[in-house]
Order: sequence, then C-alpha cells, then structure tokens
Amino acid sequence: MKIINSSLDLGKQLQIYRAAAKSVGFVPTMGALHQGHLSLIQEAVRCNDLVVVSIFVNPTQFNNSKDLEQYPKTLERDVLKIKSVTSTDLFVFIPSVEDIYGTDISSNSFDFGGIEHQMEGQFRPGHFDGVGTVVQKLFNTVNPDRAYFGEKDFQQLQIINRLVHIMGSKISIVSCPIAREPNGLAMSSRNARLTTQEKEHASKLYRTLKTVQHQFGTDDVSYIQEWVNNQFKDDEIISLEYFQISDELTLKSTQKINTNIKYRAFIAAYIRDVRLIDNIALN
Ligand code: PAJ
Repeated sequence: MKIINSSLDLGKQLQIYRAAAKSVGFVPTMGALHQGHLSLIQEAVRCNDLVVVSIFVNPTQFNNSKDLEQYPKTLERDVLKIKSVTSTDLFVFIPSVEDIYGTDISSNSFDFGGIEHQMEGQFRPGHFDGVGTVVQKLFNTVNPDRAYFGEKDFQQLQIINRLVHIMGSKISIVSCPIAREPNGLAMSSRNARLTTQEKEHASKLYRTLKTVQHQFGTDDVSYIQEWVNNQFKDDEIISLEYFQISDELTLKSTQKINTNIKYRAFIAAYIRDVRLIDNIALN
C-alpha cells in the first residue's frame, strides 16, 4: 500500500501500471471509512490489478458549511482499515483541497438530464454539481477501468452513470449493495455522530423501507406514502425530510405503477442535525 498526496505523483505512478497493461479500479471516498466503504474496496481488489482509493472531503458538495465542518475525519484509522483489507497493489490518494481545486474552489454546472433536481438535488442545492465536479477531476487523474459506487447513495450512482456518458468516458461504473449495521441501519460516516440510543432508533428507517417493500404491489402508492408519513408524525427523535417511490432511472416520484419499470423507495431524515438517507429496491 502506498500513500500519495499529489495528483502529479499519482499520475506518474499510474503510468507504470498502464505501461504494463494492468487494470485499475478506483474507489472515491470522503474518508471516515466503515464496512460499506471497505466492501467497495474489497470488490475493487477482487477485479483489478491495482486499486486506487481516494480520501478527499470535497468542500463543493456540502451545501451546509456546518455539515462540512462536522464531517468526521479519521485519517489514521482509515489507512489502517484499508491496510487490513488488501494484499494487492493499492494506492491511497489523499490530496489537499489546493491540489484538486487550485485557488478556485467552485463547482461546474452539469445537466444530468433532470435527475439532479430530484430528492437530494432538491434538498441539497448545488450538491450534485459539487459531486460531478470532483468526480470528473478524480476520473481525469486516475482514469480507471472501473469505478465503484454504493447503492446507499443511489441517486449519486445514477448521476455518475450520466457523468461518464457526458464525459464520453469508457470507465465502467460498478454498483455495490448497501452495507448495513446488524439492526438494519445503513452504514454511513455520519452515524458516528449518533448516540447508541439514536442509532438503535434510526433503524426504524430501514424497518419502514422493509414494510414498504412488502406493501408495494398490494397497496396504492398514495396509501403507502400516507402510512410512512404517519409512522414519523409523532416521532420525537426522527424528523422525516422526504419519502418517495421513484422510477430507478428518472428518479421521478410516481403514483402509478408500471410493471415494466423498476422502482425504489427513498427516505431522508434528520436525527438532531445529523442527516440520514436510505433506499430499497421494490421490484
Ligand atoms: P462517501 O460518502 O465517503 O462514500 C464513498 C462511497 O461509499 C460512495 O460510493 C457511497 O455510496 C459508498 N457507501 C457509503 N456508505 C455505504 C454503505 N452503507 N454501503 C455501501 N456503500 C456505501 O459518496 C461520497 O463519499 C462522495 O460523494 C464522493 C463520491 C467520494 C465524491 O466526493
């Protein structure tokens, strides 16, 4: 395992692997690594000669400066966790903000065909422009054969699929299933900010999605929507931000089910100022 701090250095090191026709897998992260991230890294290690893991807390994707400030930073532990996963060639790329952005810390604006305006896009203005900007920069530096993204951030995964299309890139995007705590709570770096009691209560998000999965196909979408709203109406710990059932491709909220289309249920909620998201495939 090698730690690399500059894009220039990473580019040089990658050239050696490219010249030897080695395959490169890439796992972009913002650190505070947990088993969800490690499952992506394991999958990348399984399928590539070299794996690059980036750890970079990208300022342009945080629409809330307090969220950016409070984002957990556990660099030393992250490096140890990565070390424990792998025996193959692995680079951990930890650039500075200046290395990635120079002096202009701003986002480009993207047209992702409308999916950027749904859900997370609506509640976190500018978020996907920030994600698109940093991932495009990282893709240009790493130019991997495959890049790994979690279904935990399903909308982000679809944004990245559109990004490679926009870039005219041949990078293959590999989607990986959601890693969960034993109680069902989707693993997230932000969970570190919850108390044990709050984490236990937060598993209600997953239990709600599982019930929705059972209801889907039998009950009307409007009934399910109302049922979910009722589950959180008097909840003193979880504050529901949105729940919706969407077409997996357009991510538009739907009321009528078409059996030829794949749907997912999406949920976002707050526990105090900690924002949690989750989703589940319905058919
Ligand atoms: P981050 O939140 O660190 O997540 C890095 C990758 O890990 C993403 O692809 C995310 O979907 C995946 N991931 C997170 N929790 C997961 C879980 N419980 N199960 C499976 N995969 C999980 O997403 C970002 O960083 C950033 O937006 C980034 C893409 C790095 C751009 O800055």
